[in-house]
Amino acid sequence: MMKRYFVVLFLFLFAGRIGSFAQTSTPWVVPEEAKEKVAPFKFTPETVKIGESVFQRTCKSCHGDPGKQNWAKITPPPGDPASANFQVQTDGEMFYRIKTGRAPMPQFGNILSDEERWQVISYVRSFNPNYTQPAPLISMAAGAKKLKLYIYPNYKLKKLYVLCNEITKEKKEIPAKGIEIQLNVKRYFGTLKLGDPKTTNASGFVMYDFPADLPGGTHGIIDLTARVKDESGLLFSSDANAKLAIGKPVVLKRLTDARAMWSVRSKAPVWLILTFSLTLITVWGFIIYILLALRKLKYSS
Ligand code: HEC
Repeated sequence: MMKRYFVVLFLFLFAGRIGSFAQTSTPWVVPEEAKEKVAPFKFTPETVKIGESVFQRTCKSCHGDPGKQNWAKITPPPGDPASANFQVQTDGEMFYRIKTGRAPMPQFGNILSDEERWQVISYVRSFNPNYTQPAPLISMAAGAKKLKLYIYPNYKLKKLYVLCNEITKEKKEIPAKGIEIQLNVKRYFGTLKLGDPKTTNASGFVMYDFPADLPGGTHGIIDLTARVKDESGLLFSSDANAKLAIGKPVVLKRLTDARAMWSVRSKAPVWLILTFSLTLITVWGFIIYILLALRKLKYSS
């Protein structure tokens, strides 16, 4: 009788734990194309600094301070972002996992912008001395042949260097020469050509000029795609595109900024303040006049 009671108590107490252990053992799968995703801008001390403040605000409560192994005692353990088994993830895997979350980790897709998520990743990577930031990439295929275009911007010279590699059957990457590459910029309606098509040299490189003054959102980020032809005329189609901060940052003004005159006085136009004040003075003046007249009437009788 007593024994059975303990078994029930045991199950009651530990069933939840067993359930959550089962959950940790399932790997957190990231789709193949999401793994390859890389940041559209270079990680710099500035991006690390912004990332740090985002981390303090939104991640620290569970993951603790990177390098201090002081994460929250929850199941599954969140882990230390500076640790080796956290750093083995690709940037794309981190980006995807931060976006989608997995209980108890919240989904940050709607809470943090893409830029903020990359900035957090740049902060997390600053604890890894062996990290080198991968170049933005466009993967393409034609039949059995696969190409990868790595895009290296030189912000000082305003040049884009594109390295075209072919993936061999042994999954090795070798420079592909004689490949005609047309880079395009994705716009809301259709695409815009980025100069004329160019053919890769013996080391698999082509060079482009930066697009001049192309508007690219608040961070100047532009969506690049490519159209590629090899020597035999085989056309490659890109299943991915690369995002790069090579455009001109454009800060969109909110329509209400200029129009919401009721929100703060400093935004109200002068004519409105004048009309309002004049109306007020006239009405009060009239009331005072009537009161004075009434008083006069009272004393005169
Ligand atoms: C409520 C607690 C919580 C918060 C807040 C939180 N995480 Fe997590 N995080 C976790 C837990 C728990 C896991 C392990 C999840 C699992 O394995 O199923 C995890 C896993 C991760 C992983 C995958 C790690 C791996 O090795 O697979 C990344 C990347 C990550 N978190 C980044 C972040 C970032 C960046 C933030 C802030 C924007 C954040 N987390 C905020 C709890 C949290």
